[in-house]
Amino acid sequence: MFQDRHDGPPPPRLLRSSAYAPVVDRWKTIIEPFRIKSVEPIRMTTVAERDEHLQEAGYNLFNLHAADVIIDLLTDSGTGAMSAEQWAGIQRGDESYAGSPSFFRFRDAVHELFPFRHVIPTHQGRAAEKILFSVLGGPGRTIPNNTHFDTTRANVEFSGAEAVDLVIAEGRVPSTEHPFKGNMDLDALERVLDERDVPCVVVTVTNNSGGGQPVSMENLRGVRAACDRHGLPLFLDACRFAENAWFVKQREPGYEEHPIADIVREMAALADGMTMSAKKDGLANMGGWLACDDDELAEQCRNLLILTEGFPTYGGLSGRDLEAVAQGLREVVDEDYLRYRVRSTAYLGDALDAAGVPIVKPPGGHAIYIDARALLAHVPPLQYPGQALALALYLEGGIRGCEIGTVMFGRQPDGSEEPGAMDLVRLAIPRRTYTQSHVDYVIEVMATVAARADELRGLRIVFEPAALRHFTARFEPL
Ligand SMILES: Cc1ncc(COP(=O)(O)O)c(C=O)c1O
Repeated sequence: MFQDRHDGPPPPRLLRSSAYAPVVDRWKTIIEPFRIKSVEPIRMTTVAERDEHLQEAGYNLFNLHAADVIIDLLTDSGTGAMSAEQWAGIQRGDESYAGSPSFFRFRDAVHELFPFRHVIPTHQGRAAEKILFSVLGGPGRTIPNNTHFDTTRANVEFSGAEAVDLVIAEGRVPSTEHPFKGNMDLDALERVLDERDVPCVVVTVTNNSGGGQPVSMENLRGVRAACDRHGLPLFLDACRFAENAWFVKQREPGYEEHPIADIVREMAALADGMTMSAKKDGLANMGGWLACDDDELAEQCRNLLILTEGFPTYGGLSGRDLEAVAQGLREVVDEDYLRYRVRSTAYLGDALDAAGVPIVKPPGGHAIYIDARALLAHVPPLQYPGQALALALYLEGGIRGCEIGTVMFGRQPDGSEEPGAMDLVRLAIPRRTYTQSHVDYVIEVMATVAARADELRGLRIVFEPAALRHFTARFEPL
């Protein structure tokens, strides 16, 4: 039996000062704000084995078997660990074709943060993009964005429209420090809106292809004002909305005391709709949605959804996926989680910087981007320095990163090839998946590769598909 509480005055407290900082800010050691309940073994491989795997994979890390990777930093998309509550939701998932209670729990969780009138589930972010740009895009039109992610650009271009990137100048220079390097260049936006046929403006939070850099609320208000002047809708590509909100809270004057969920709702209030991949800040392994306020647009989008994804209350997802996303959205705005998330990413960036590895600064929310063009200055962009560095990291330590540069963006719609704006290797950090010792290993391997960077050679492409070539291209070392 537990004893009843004692009725008299409370006993004195051990802690006499309430001025202690939250745990992760006070101590140097970053502790993961979770315990591990279930584990997945990692198979250790040798350099000789990895050399063989690379040859078989046509020197494309997307072609590797994941079981041959020691630390997989290819993407933070859908690779996170789910919480016990999310797994409980999976069990609760209702698989009714129409009107499943899981859909309504999902819709309510989205509304809690993004109160758009229409919420249309999709199997992942690019399905939402495909539907949106099928309706709004088309030949002769231009879609401005701070930086289009590769699938967004591909979907815009597939519709016949032109995708233009208008991130501020600081966002294009990896070594420049700026608190909001994801911001849109408002003057450039105004010019595009004056001169082109623009059906909508998109802002990507955080700006993945530009280094996972955040967008300030002030900038978002500026984009909103430009959209209002031209009578245009503003859409958020909101994959990493919670990480963006955390940066706003940390860096933008006036937001220090705002709860994360309030900042997210303020972002949503500035927009007319959103596309979302729940594989990022939905903390789920699959899912996404398209949301908007416009009834007519929603109607057109739902019609396309039924053709390609499914009925509007499941849109390409099972009921259990909808439950996982609903719970994930509650967990992702938790400040203990976000503090750990952003600080542990910065831990990797700061250590690489201290080891003399050039990175995009300041560290982004979900990934560290290594400036391969600077590190491999002897490899010309059209010999893919980012790809060469990514391959060296795998060969040396079994670490899989992702080239974000000339391989990904170099092929132009007219068939010509040009250097990408930057040649980066992205080390994306899956959410709640790796511990600090995994990250220490990555630091050690990367520092070793960087020390002999001048020995690395470029590559040539021996096969590439018509679109999104980085996924399936095959290479040969020069
Ligand atoms: C900014 C951004 N937009 C869109 C997408 C596409 O989402 P999905 O992979 O779920 O199709 C991604 C995926 O990485 C992304 O980072």
